[in-house]
Amino acid sequence: MHSIVELQDIVEQAIKNVQYPSQPAKLYEPISYIMSLGGKRIRPVLLLLSSELFNDDVAIAVEGALAIETFHNFTLIHDDIMDNAPIRRGKDTVHVKWGVNNAILSGDAMMVEANRHMTRLDTSVLKDVLTCFNDTASGVCEGQQLDMEFEQRTDVSIEEYINMIRLKTAVLVGGCMKIGAIIGGAGTEDANLLYDFGVNFGLAFQLQDDILDVYGDPVKFGKQVGGDIISNKQTFLLLKLKELAAAEDLAALKSLSGATDYAHKVKTVTRLYNKYKIRDLATAEMERRADIAFTSLDKVNIRDNRKAELNMLARSLINREH
Ligand code: IPE
Ligand code: IPE
Ligand code: MG
Ligand code: MG
Ligand code: MG
Repeated sequence: MHSIVELQDIVEQAIKNVQYPSQPAKLYEPISYIMSLGGKRIRPVLLLLSSELFNDDVAIAVEGALAIETFHNFTLIHDDIMDNAPIRRGKDTVHVKWGVNNAILSGDAMMVEANRHMTRLDTSVLKDVLTCFNDTASGVCEGQQLDMEFEQRTDVSIEEYINMIRLKTAVLVGGCMKIGAIIGGAGTEDANLLYDFGVNFGLAFQLQDDILDVYGDPVKFGKQVGGDIISNKQTFLLLKLKELAAAEDLAALKSLSGATDYAHKVKTVTRLYNKYKIRDLATAEMERRADIAFTSLDKVNIRDNRKAELNMLARSLINREH
């Protein structure tokens, strides 16, 4: 059994060993750039960990881990175009550095690379893995579409928001757990319980991302703080504020939606969040989702020390600063 740190090392080493073609440089350089900027690597680590719950030879899952991390980074490149984001992992985003068209095409090439990694898995698991991977990838596209559509709407419910983050973020985390379990040889019931753990943990993970988007330390967070406020993202924080704010505060909020003085907009909306203690409410919701995740984990048929480790990793990730 590997520790979490050892699994992180395996992922890091595997990513370093991947060589992309050198030409056309503008197609492949952005891929090496985004892949080498680090990030927490939680999805590939979860995939390896999940496989190792059922099979001691973690090497059998490494191509799956590479596929998932490549896919995740592809979604980040395209997400940063869609969100008009200037900074990712403390550095210029790919579309800022290479232009939007290059960012689109390098992202497309990464989706292909991700598939290439997946097809190197053992043929006995390939069909089930690809089915799960394709369902996951469709979910991400659906969630991203809803996320964009919600920016134009003022009547989004919390239920709709949870469904949107389930699709754009949580199904991928669940998919990592399930794909790992399939590679490791788990039974259907355990694979599905781990999927449920991943989805619920993924909801908590995205809630924390939304909290950090407002309250993160810009250096540690590595992304533009206030980006969600600037683009009128319908996050849990905004929806709760709309539920609780007095009429004059709601009017102030409404008048800011088209504001072009972004610094003022971010400052004013953040003040309203503070006034109504929205951060505490979002944190409570995040913890509630994490508890649901741990209930699914309890039911999985694996050793208790492994559960404890996964529990600790998940807790550290929902309390993260980046
Ligand atoms: C960012 O994911 C996108 C979300 C789903 C919140 P991560 O927070 O895992 O990003 P990296 O890979 O660690 O940079
Ligand atoms: C992330 O949502 C979802 C995907 C990348 C698919 P965000 O837009 O909140 O992610 P960040 O905050 O830019 O990492
Ligand atoms: Mg974004
Ligand atoms: Mg986004
Ligand atoms: Mg975000």
